[in-house]
Amino acid sequence: MNLLKSVLVIALFSTTARAEPPKPVDITVYRSASCSCCGKWLEHLKANNFNVKDMAMEDVLPIKQKQGITDKLASCHTALVGDYVIEGHVPANDIMKLLKSKPKVIGLAVPGMVNGSPGMEMGEHKNAYEVVSFDKDQKMAVFSSYPESK
Ligand code: CU
Ligand code: CU
Repeated sequence: MNLLKSVLVIALFSTTARAEPPKPVDITVYRSASCSCCGKWLEHLKANNFNVKDMAMEDVLPIKQKQGITDKLASCHTALVGDYVIEGHVPANDIMKLLKSKPKVIGLAVPGMVNGSPGMEMGEHKNAYEVVSFDKDQKMAVFSSYPESK
C-alpha cells in the first residue's frame, strides 16, 4: 500500500468512527422584543441543541390567533418546530419528546407564566406546573408535569 492510499484509509476510518453529534433542531420563536423571560427561554433552547430563529416583534397576538392559541393556552411567546406549535415556557426535553413520539396534536403549551419553568426561574422556589398538549378542537391533555421544588 503506498503512502497516499494509507492516508486515505485513515481519513475514511476517522470520519466514520467519530460519533456524530446530534443535529441541532430548528425552531422559530415569535416573541415580544421587550420581554426578558422570552430571551431567557431562547437561551434555554440554545443550551439544549436548538437552532433558534428569533422573531422579535411588537405584537405576537396575530401569530397566536393564526396558530389557534386561545386565552386558555396563551403565554408570552409562540414557537414553531417541525409541524408543531409550542406556546410558552415549555422545557426543551418536552419538545424533544414531542418530536420523537409524534402525537396527533397541534402542539404543547405551558399556559401563563409559571415561576420555575425554563426562563422563568426566580430564586430557588419553583412552582408545580404542567405541560399540556392541545389538539385542533382545543382539547387539552397533560403531557408532563413538574413538581413544586423549594
Ligand atoms: Cu415568558
Ligand atoms: Cu416568552
